[in-house]
Amino acid sequence: MKHKTVEVKNVLRTQAMFENLQSRSMITPGIGLIHGPSGYGKTTTVTYMFNELTVSGHQPLYVRCYATDTPSSFLARVMSEMGAEPMFPLRKMVDYIVRSMNERSLALFVDEADHIVGQAKTMETIRDLYDSTEQPVVLIGMEEIARRISHRKQLFNRISEWVEFKSADIEDVHLFAAELMDSRLTIAEDLLDFIRSKSSGEVRRILIALEKIERAMIASDEDYIDLAGWGDRPLFLTHRR
Ligand SMILES: Nc1ncnc2c1ncn2[C@@H]1O[C@H](COP(=O)(O)OP(=O)(O)OP(=O)(O)O)[C@@H](O)[C@H]1O
Ligand SMILES: [Mg+2]
Repeated sequence: MKHKTVEVKNVLRTQAMFENLQSRSMITPGIGLIHGPSGYGKTTTVTYMFNELTVSGHQPLYVRCYATDTPSSFLARVMSEMGAEPMFPLRKMVDYIVRSMNERSLALFVDEADHIVGQAKTMETIRDLYDSTEQPVVLIGMEEIARRISHRKQLFNRISEWVEFKSADIEDVHLFAAELMDSRLTIAEDLLDFIRSKSSGEVRRILIALEKIERAMIASDEDYIDLAGWGDRPLFLTHRR
């Protein structure tokens, strides 16, 4: 399997969403939200956008949150992204980050925001960073995050753009197969359809299945396979409840 990001619908919608945030008018607030189930490609998409922005000279800040985060560790991670050492008291770090975001027009992406959405102080700090810079701030998390943020009115009201990651459709599965697999191999429509439905459209599981098929086809020197040809060899990890 090739290592690249495929521009499926969720990726295109996320790019459009960020462009809207960047080109918004003065009256529109600039916090964005990306949410959706695990394995749907949120982090991959944001990393891809990060690289594109970096190439075009608009490198943003990207931080991933951890279960053990506190306002202090969160700010220290943003500092380290900017190549700076932590400072105390915390107010100094906030000032430093605000100054840098303003001077260099830095957008801020906060991945795995589920870990901090329950922490009033960290969330308010993110709102402070946004209010003092008005640079785009994008929060990324799982399904629950939208509901949990909705309880933080001051932050919620500043969200002007959002993307909910949808399960991959058959067109997306086609695109993954075409762009990631060895180009000499063909998977029949019925097997692609089987992969889509059994994976529930979760990208992580789709790619695991495609890789298994690719490996098997190369091992047996086949260039075409359909559902009957695959037979009952396992493709998905299932568990009994
Ligand atoms: N557009 C894409 N092109 C290629 N590979 C992708 C794409 N989207 C997702 N993947 C692959 O699918 C896997 C899961 O994606 P990712 O980790 O981005 O999901 P996530 O939504 O961030 O999940 P989580 O909520 O668990 O963090 C990754 O291994 C990634 O390589
Ligand atoms: Mg992720």
